[in-house]
Amino acid sequence: MINEAAVKEALGKVQDPAFNADIVTYRMLRGVEISGEDVLVKLDIPTHAYPKTMLRELQKRIEAAVQPLGAKRVTVMHEVVTAFHPAPSDKATLKGPKNVIAVAAGKGGVGKSTVAVNMALALARHGAKVGLLDADVFGPSIPTMLGAPEVPPSASKDSKIIPAMHHGMKVISVGFFVDKDEAVVWRGPMVHRLLTQFLADVDWGELDYLVCDLPPGTGDVQLSLSQLIPIAGSVMVTTPQEVSIVDVVKGIAMFEKVEIPILGIVENMSFYKCPACGHTDEIFSHGGGKRLAQEVGCAFFGEIPIDTRIRFGGDAGVPIVIASPDSDNAQRFMDIASQAALKVAASVLSKPKRSPRLAVIK
Ligand SMILES: Nc1ncnc2c1ncn2[C@@H]1O[C@H](COP(=O)(O)OP(=O)(O)O)[C@@H](O)[C@H]1O
Ligand SMILES: [Mg+2]
Repeated sequence: MINEAAVKEALGKVQDPAFNADIVTYRMLRGVEISGEDVLVKLDIPTHAYPKTMLRELQKRIEAAVQPLGAKRVTVMHEVVTAFHPAPSDKATLKGPKNVIAVAAGKGGVGKSTVAVNMALALARHGAKVGLLDADVFGPSIPTMLGAPEVPPSASKDSKIIPAMHHGMKVISVGFFVDKDEAVVWRGPMVHRLLTQFLADVDWGELDYLVCDLPPGTGDVQLSLSQLIPIAGSVMVTTPQEVSIVDVVKGIAMFEKVEIPILGIVENMSFYKCPACGHTDEIFSHGGGKRLAQEVGCAFFGEIPIDTRIRFGGDAGVPIVIASPDSDNAQRFMDIASQAALKVAASVLSKPKRSPRLAVIK
């Protein structure tokens, strides 16, 4: 008979390939069932975006750890249980979304909204329940980028805002409620009230991730959001050249002050590969994002080249992750989404378990 305690001890030494930590410390081992010479190992995988190649590697490692104990057949079953970013004791947890991921940049026009939209859709394609909050109240571009909604936003009987549905994803933007050409001067307290409403009065329902597209720079929205809800982390978007990098450094410094962890950096518009002749041109220079990540000591999530289909997808309301899901550049967004989700999960699982505390956002 195979000894259960010995199996568990062996599993305690199995390193997870995505987190480089053991599966017991990272609360991924749900249980073990032994029947004769058969061993069933049940895992909790902390994100839908956990890469399939790593899952196969983890299975191999588990088999290799358990087989020497006399098991003839080792079966690994897994279920995704999204790791939940709990609120620190001084902050209210948002009801519904388990993890809030902000997408930020130092400057406008670097592709922050493009990354936010494609990353949110990529997380959804990985299988997660995702919402998108357009927190760029000064220049909401999400409604244009996502086109006409399948279901427009509405109000419920109990006066909650029901988000619009775009490509199966819940979306809220000030652009739904304010005319596109109407110039709105949002002052600090108004921004705070509006964001409070988007967080407290929107019926988000259960979500694994709420992706927030922030305005450029370091202003009222960043401050209000950091005060209102626990943000699991931020993805910083930059173009390769120095002027963009300098502004991202300022953004990182501000986020550190308000205790929003930096998950990683994405370099957008990294290069242009001519589809006709295959020549590659580094229009905005190259490699700045990677260097910055090394300097500030955070992860580099990858490069997105300049691609007409990315621009067209944004203008036509069908982002590349949906329009050409098998293209290389859609794959890059899938990979960035996966890395961001793994970082969020790691930040939750590397700390002792805290139960989520629900409170009312005032
Ligand atoms: N990698 C890319 N290739 C081609 N066009 C891009 C790319 N990233 C962004 N764009 C385009 O650049 C413009 C600005 O991008 P946007 O995401 O709105 O920037 P931001 O939110 O930072 O202001 C948009 O028209 C968008 O479609
Ligand atoms: Mg934008």
